[in-house]
Amino acid sequence: MTTYLLGIDIGTGGSKALLIDEQGNVAANVTTEYPLSTPKPLWSEQSPQDWYNATVASIRKALDQAEVDPKHVAAIGLTGQMHGLVLLDAKGEVLRPAILWNDQRTAAQCDEIHDRIGADTVLRITGKPASTGFTAPKILWVKQHEPDIYERIAKILLPKDYIRFRLTGEFLSDVTDASGTSLFDVAARQWSDELIDALEVPRHWLAHVTESPVASAKLSGEAATATGLLQDTPVIAGAGDQAAEAIGCGIVDDGAVSVTIGTSGVTFAATAECELDRNGKLHAYCHAVPGMWHVMGVMLSGGGSLRWFRDKLGGEEMMQAAVREIDAYEVLIEGASEVRPGCEGLFFLPYLTGERTPHADPNARGAFIGLTLRHNKWHMTRAVMEGVTFGLMDSIQLVRDMGFDVSKVRVSGGGARSELWRQMMADVFNAEVATVNITQGAAYGAALLAGVGIRVFENVQQAAKSTVRETDSLRPGVDAAVYGRYYERYRALYPALAAQFSAIASLDGT
Ligand code: XUL
Repeated sequence: MTTYLLGIDIGTGGSKALLIDEQGNVAANVTTEYPLSTPKPLWSEQSPQDWYNATVASIRKALDQAEVDPKHVAAIGLTGQMHGLVLLDAKGEVLRPAILWNDQRTAAQCDEIHDRIGADTVLRITGKPASTGFTAPKILWVKQHEPDIYERIAKILLPKDYIRFRLTGEFLSDVTDASGTSLFDVAARQWSDELIDALEVPRHWLAHVTESPVASAKLSGEAATATGLLQDTPVIAGAGDQAAEAIGCGIVDDGAVSVTIGTSGVTFAATAECELDRNGKLHAYCHAVPGMWHVMGVMLSGGGSLRWFRDKLGGEEMMQAAVREIDAYEVLIEGASEVRPGCEGLFFLPYLTGERTPHADPNARGAFIGLTLRHNKWHMTRAVMEGVTFGLMDSIQLVRDMGFDVSKVRVSGGGARSELWRQMMADVFNAEVATVNITQGAAYGAALLAGVGIRVFENVQQAAKSTVRETDSLRPGVDAAVYGRYYERYRALYPALAAQFSAIASLDGT
């Protein structure tokens, strides 16, 4: 009898249900999308009920697609977008839409946290400064702007933990996701009483936290009826999407580095010690491997920059792609491949939703710089890809500055599908860039964690090493020297424009 493991990813674009067997083979992969709302500039919200409905739909379709008898699904692992704030009242009802990781409304609350507690203390305890996307500043924002809602809060949960609550009735989280709340002591792997007291967050609002591969709850009868799975199926703690993605990419050894180009652009380095970037630019988190940590740089619009370009300026390419029955990105990237590295002096700053790493600045904006009459849409497409790659290089540089040897990087996410983009990364990072056989991302990592939780695998390392292997590798080529020069110019652009970005933000009141 084959045993199946179910990974569920509450992504920003949709909820994915991924079924794998004990050997790690994918049996079904279903995503059900949901909308994102931007009620005001810089705001980003979703409905937790939408997440749940989509999750139920994805699980049902995945079971159908794989023709798997639900009794053979041995465990469920959860992952999802990090940092989001879900507020519940005493009856477990959602009090307002979830405020997401890429919401930028809380600059004043981040300042307040640093003023009240001391920026050094926040960095020492949480492994990073409070950032506009994180959970604690959102709690303060609700307290100050929606006091009626604040008064009714009985529980706060992260996105995947809300789904766990709906599936099992339990209030639980895991160390990786809790690391992104600004309330968690990352070195001690537990909630920080010091921060919780200082920010006057009632202790009973917070979920109980375990390590990622722990089988911590069971599917309720109600959720079993809704999903078609068996009541009492073990639900494993799981991990935030970045740690889970890293597991699915095999980043489980001290010093291993990955880059993921999804909506965001993430540079991730696993470490056996809880290491802090003294400047607080790279952020430290607990890893989903018990006893390990990771440092991370997050650019907020990685692949999201190219998606923006496709959606707003790629109408013609989308039509062409439909006729040729290929992806519109392929048409755009084909065009970009005709352009010389450096785009004849055209740069793109990828700060379309502000930035987190290395410039923690909600007011930062996107920009094309260096346009001339010669430049066309393919130059602009390539400049977007290069700008994102330079932004990732900022984080690679910070990882190197912390003493990591970044001679090899495993890449994942939609952006890593493009060979042009992978070669660009190899050239810009001056490192070998490898892909792996697993392309299902965080959901795959969550399924592996589920397998560890029920002892299908010995531990997280063994789970990753027995299923994830490298498939392709590119080395820096002739363009590395050109990119070295262009990267130096790119680095100078944000500092030259930062004051203008905040002036622009106050101009239009955003
Ligand atoms: C990680 C982060 C994002 C979200 C997106 O810190 O903010 O990558 O988790 O899914």
